[in-house]
Amino acid sequence: MKNILVTGGAGFIGANFVHYWMEHYPNDKVVVLDALTYAGNIANLDSVKDKDNFTFSHGDIGDQALVESLLNDHNIDTLVHFAAESHVDRSITGPDAFIETNIIGTYSLLKAAKKIWIDNPKRTGEEVKNHRFHHVSTDEVYGTLSATDPAFTENTAYAPNSPYSASKAASDHLVRAYHHTYGLQVTTSNCSNNYGPYHFPEKLIPLVITNILHDKALPIYGDGQQIRDWLYVEDHAYGIDLVLNKGRVGENYNIGGNNEWANIDIVKAISLLVEKEFQKDLSLARRFPKALNAIAQTTKSLITYVQDRPGHDRRYAIDATKTKNELGYFPKESFQTGIAKSVQWYLNNEAWWQSVMDGSYQDWIKEQYSQFHN
Ligand code: NAD
Ligand code: TYD
Repeated sequence: MKNILVTGGAGFIGANFVHYWMEHYPNDKVVVLDALTYAGNIANLDSVKDKDNFTFSHGDIGDQALVESLLNDHNIDTLVHFAAESHVDRSITGPDAFIETNIIGTYSLLKAAKKIWIDNPKRTGEEVKNHRFHHVSTDEVYGTLSATDPAFTENTAYAPNSPYSASKAASDHLVRAYHHTYGLQVTTSNCSNNYGPYHFPEKLIPLVITNILHDKALPIYGDGQQIRDWLYVEDHAYGIDLVLNKGRVGENYNIGGNNEWANIDIVKAISLLVEKEFQKDLSLARRFPKALNAIAQTTKSLITYVQDRPGHDRRYAIDATKTKNELGYFPKESFQTGIAKSVQWYLNNEAWWQSVMDGSYQDWIKEQYSQFHN
């Protein structure tokens, strides 16, 4: 049995991980620490919030005293670190928060973990010999690939190109250093682009779904030929589960979908899926009266090529051979089933995405991207 502290557990992947973990390990104790930034939403944890083995703490990973008390008070033996600023576009217009949370925040967490687990391992009279600090990172730290380059392995040299990926790379290095220098029992996973329920609608896939439902333009950066390797979010949670239970301390593990798509193709595929749903279920036209193009089966006409993202990485692709061979990892969801589930989820959860797109999200969209997102 584990006592797990999940940072960023009210965000997209963190919340899906908490749901996964509480379903697969119902006797474990789960504590979520989340600052509830624009990307964090307590409603993402509605289905678990009343369970006896679940605790939510509203706070910042940079608050070392708070983290130390959570580690102590809940006898935490496993920390899974998702909390981050995660949107590349925001890192281009406002990198400060990325440096603060992703680098300084991770450093603060490492200091707290070292203090409680290594420097002062007496807790409730028992030595904490086995602990784990699992750091959730991204394939973006490896930089960009050409169309013919081999996919990223764990040995690919780091070459981050955006303030987001540079801040994640810095945090990966700090985690590694805390293992080598102080013996903190760490693992790191580098995952490709996730999609699925609770995905914040500033990211490509939920943005396209929700814009179709609002009959808004689907902004394609540059020529739309950039490639991403998409993974259903529950398969990311499953990969982290394997790393926690079978992974070797001090190692990095790549997690990917083996599922490369050019942006323009994924946008066209989603458009078709939404159109089919409108054909199958006539009540959708009533529920989403603004979705005139979806109703008329002409969503492709919403596609709008816009100015490219500065420094836009051309291609990401994960080689997960090590994770497959050592841990038996393989994604369980096919892209066909995963994307269909995701479209369904957004059709069924309008209240969720309408609420997260209120307030500061609208201000940000207007301020930074009025030319893209009409
Ligand atoms: P997200 O932006 O949806 O959620 C981040 C969560 O962290 C939010 O709940 C937010 O409130 C919380 N948070 C932010 N700053 C905090 C702070 N200072 N203290 C405490 N909580 C704070 O992000 P996500 O897409 O769920 O990504 C989670 C992690 O996975 C990140 O570390 C990201 O780098 C990594 N990752 C994401 C993807 C992806 O496709 N989204 C892919 C690979 C890796
Ligand atoms: P995103 O979901 O922001 O993830 P990341 O930048 O971390 O890969 O973007 C995925 C891809 O889609 C990326 O190549 C940028 C592109 N994109 C668009 O073309 N239009 C958009 O409106 C957005 C948000 C992204």
